[in-house]
Amino acid sequence: MRTLLVLALLTGCGGAIEPPAPVPTEPAELHGFLAAGEYQAWRSEPDLKPGLNSTMHRVFLREDAAIDGSPVGAAAVRELWDADGAEQLAWSAVVKVDPGEGPESWFFYETYDFDDREAHLVAEVAANGCASCHAAEVDVIRTEY
Ligand code: HEC
Repeated sequence: MRTLLVLALLTGCGGAIEPPAPVPTEPAELHGFLAAGEYQAWRSEPDLKPGLNSTMHRVFLREDAAIDGSPVGAAAVRELWDADGAEQLAWSAVVKVDPGEGPESWFFYETYDFDDREAHLVAEVAANGCASCHAAEVDVIRTEY
């Protein structure tokens, strides 16, 4: 999958590698993007790992997202799974929308509803309940790889 994507990028425009397509921040479009599963080709840790409140999670970082700073357009997705890793519970996503650093420059999204594109728990820049933890590092990304 990853090889195919790289080949497509390499041959797409006279050999130049194009930046990845933008990740939408309109909630219903972002839901569609997540449902399409494209983000699973981003770099990630190989397996689920224990997170907060007895859940498991796995983080996918787009190539331009990093713990030491990210450009506008950078994005990351976290899959939240139940304690046994048997059922996915939610998607969380962050997309950088402004050149500054910190939560005011990022759109935060979370949904526990995989069917309804309009349903979400969080869909806003500097969302309360996300920003406090995600202001702890250089920018907003917290995963260290
Ligand atoms: C209690 C602190 C805390 C809160 C609240 C929190 N997060 Fe996180 N989040 C983390 C930590 C720690 C990581 C890194 C996990 C890892 O390394 O596996 C993370 C990782 C992520 C990632 C993967 C990219 C990254 O930064 O590493 C996304 C996406 C994400 N969180 C979205 C959200 C959203 C959306 C909210 C609000 C609904 C939220 N988080 C609330 C602590 C928090």
